[in-house]
Amino acid sequence: MRNIDLCRSFGLLVLAAFNVAAQPALPAGYVGSETCQACHQEIYDAFQKTPHEAIETSKKHDFQGIACESCHGPAQKHIDNPSAATIRNPGKIPAEAADKVCLSCHLNQATQAGRLLSSHMKDQVSCTSCHKVHANGGHSLVARKPAAINEQCASCHLAVWAEFQRPNHHKLPEGAMSCVDCHNPHGSIRPAMGQVFAGNEPGCFTCHGDLRGPYTFEHAPVRFESCSTCHEPHGSANPRMLTRQEVRFVCLECHANLPSPVSTNSALGVAPPSFHNLLSPVYQNCSVCHQKVHGSYVDRNLLK
Ligand code: HEC
Ligand code: HEC
Ligand code: HEC
Ligand code: HEC
Ligand code: HEC
Ligand code: HEC
Ligand code: HEC
Ligand code: HEC
Ligand code: HEC
Ligand code: HEC
Repeated sequence: MRNIDLCRSFGLLVLAAFNVAAQPALPAGYVGSETCQACHQEIYDAFQKTPHEAIETSKKHDFQGIACESCHGPAQKHIDNPSAATIRNPGKIPAEAADKVCLSCHLNQATQAGRLLSSHMKDQVSCTSCHKVHANGGHSLVARKPAAINEQCASCHLAVWAEFQRPNHHKLPEGAMSCVDCHNPHGSIRPAMGQVFAGNEPGCFTCHGDLRGPYTFEHAPVRFESCSTCHEPHGSANPRMLTRQEVRFVCLECHANLPSPVSTNSALGVAPPSFHNLLSPVYQNCSVCHQKVHGSYVDRNLLK
């Protein structure tokens, strides 16, 4: 160990003696970031202001002085024969290969929890589809403002974006919220990449904490299924963003003597007691009496 270190410093000393501007010895095949500057001045200059500049000096990664090549690979061949064919461009290679480049440093960071299970990787949407390392001077590396995030997601998820144009919706089109309030773009073990908070609620409790419970008398589907059993959080014709235009149709999907039309609803409720005359308007608006549909602290029939 010692000997190698000594040799190295000796080597450096010798180099320094001959050439004041000498770089520390680079791994074979690497040429150093400053070499790129000569031909890619604009990108080089903009890069100095991006978070990835840290690679240039960081002791955490093994790319001191060769940050450009941490993503583009050793560039000696490219310098000998400068053309697009002689260098790796993570924006052009297959998604899986591009992700490997990024994950060589970003694997197992908190934000990537479950990344490998996520739909986006499975469906060939790579890191570079959402994170533009250089575009716009590096300013578009991460979309942070809700409007910018929504625009990015909506560029592929047109159908979902259309759901937000329904009369009652979370205020995404207005720029007050974003998709990542409920979804983790990097994937999660939850269905539909829901943000994990509690039970199977994709992040709903961050904002609707008053509904968290635990209740003395739980309403089974709230506890055991998901909020989206009854709600369409992207947008709905119902003012409470219910899956059906009227409350009773939501309830009767489970509380009837009939099999549930929704095949995924395994939890069938009991039929309402017979005094519920469903032909009478009085009994059609279930939540007028059953006010605590999410669970009650005092009443097993969820009346108060
Ligand atoms: C001597 C000039 C020169 C130097 C030095 C140079 N390049 Fe290039 N680079 C080029 C040329 C020419 C192209 C091809 C441009 C084109 O086809 O539009 C290119 C293209 C690229 C591309 C795009 C490839 C693609 O598929 O689109 C990348 C990435 C790249 N260079 C990275 C680097 C990096 C990293 C360095 C420093 C390690 C570097 N270059 C140093 C001349 C140079
Ligand atoms: C964190 C990884 C990463 C680092 C570090 C990096 N690049 Fe890139 N580079 C990319 C990706 C990804 C693309 C594809 C386009 C994009 O995402 O902006 C790219 C594209 C390019 C291109 C092609 C032109 C273009 O806009 O498509 C050039 C040239 C280039 N990089 C040069 C450099 C130079 C010079 C450095 C160092 C100053 C550098 N890169 C550092 C990831 C990186
Ligand atoms: C050589 C290591 C390395 C590689 C490879 C790498 N990164 Fe990074 N990345 C960093 C460092 C260092 C930071 C600075 C923040 C930090 O310390 O985490 C960073 C930060 C980021 C950030 C967050 C910026 C912010 O404002 O918080 C994003 C997004 C990112 N990288 C995306 C990518 C993408 C996409 C790729 C692949 C094209 C990539 N990175 C490849 C080391 C790397
Ligand atoms: C579908 C789009 C999308 C994909 C694909 C994606 N990201 Fe992100 N990423 C985002 C968004 C949006 C944010 C900002 C999240 C926020 O503000 O909560 C982000 C944030 C980040 C951050 C910064 C974390 C922080 O909060 O500071 C890093 C690092 C990062 N992504 C790396 C990656 C890497 C590496 C990959 C590929 C393995 C990747 N991302 C794939 C959309 C994406
Ligand atoms: C480059 C295109 C692209 C972008 C940008 C994109 N997605 Fe996707 N997303 C896909 C594809 C492809 C799938 C898989 C097919 C599908 O379910 O539609 C997918 C699937 C999903 C799923 C469903 C996962 C499942 O298990 O059913 C969610 C949730 C999602 N994306 C959220 C987001 C969010 C949030 C953003 C913005 C941060 C985003 N996407 C940006 C292409 C994209
Ligand atoms: C208020 C929370 C919330 C917001 C905001 C939100 N989603 Fe969702 N999203 C959900 C829930 C809940 C589901 C359904 C999960 C389930 O059925 O298990 C879902 C399902 C999805 C799915 C898979 C099923 C489908 O409908 O195709 C995609 C894709 C998706 N969302 C994309 C997006 C995109 C893109 C945005 C931003 C434009 C967004 N979501 C904003 C909560 C949200
Ligand atoms: C980032 C905060 C946030 C998250 C996360 C969130 N919501 Fe909301 N939600 C709101 C706000 C703010 C409103 C207020 C009404 C509006 O936008 O007009 C609302 C309204 C609602 C309404 C209509 C209530 C009314 O008074 O009309 C329902 C139902 C709802 N949310 C369900 C959900 C579900 C289900 C989830 C999880 C999939 C969820 N929300 C996640 C912030 C959030
Ligand atoms: C069994 C069906 C069902 C489930 C499951 C359900 N809700 Fe509701 N929710 C309703 C009904 C029905 C209303 C409207 C009540 C009314 O008419 O006033 C409602 C109203 C709301 C409201 C607005 C009024 C209020 O009570 O604050 C919010 C916010 C809400 N739900 C969020 C959620 C969240 C978050 C979840 C998941 C934890 C969830 N809901 C699960 C049926 C359900
Ligand atoms: C996804 C199916 C489902 C939906 C939708 C649903 N419920 Fe339920 N509900 C259940 C299940 C399962 C139980 C527990 C039944 C049991 O204990 O036998 C239950 C219990 C109840 C109870 C208490 C009965 C008891 O004995 O504990 C009432 C009252 C009730 N639901 C009313 C409603 C109302 C009102 C709606 C519409 C806003 C509704 N439910 C929507 C499945 C559902
Ligand atoms: C006028 C008020 C009122 C309306 C409207 C109403 N209910 Fe009820 N419901 C009650 C009362 C009171 C009870 C409790 C009966 C008891 O004490 O046994 C009850 C009990 C129930 C139960 C519990 C049955 C059991 O065996 O424990 C269910 C399920 C139910 N209602 C569903 C519904 C559904 C679905 C609707 C809408 C179609 C509805 N209710 C509308 C007053 C109402």
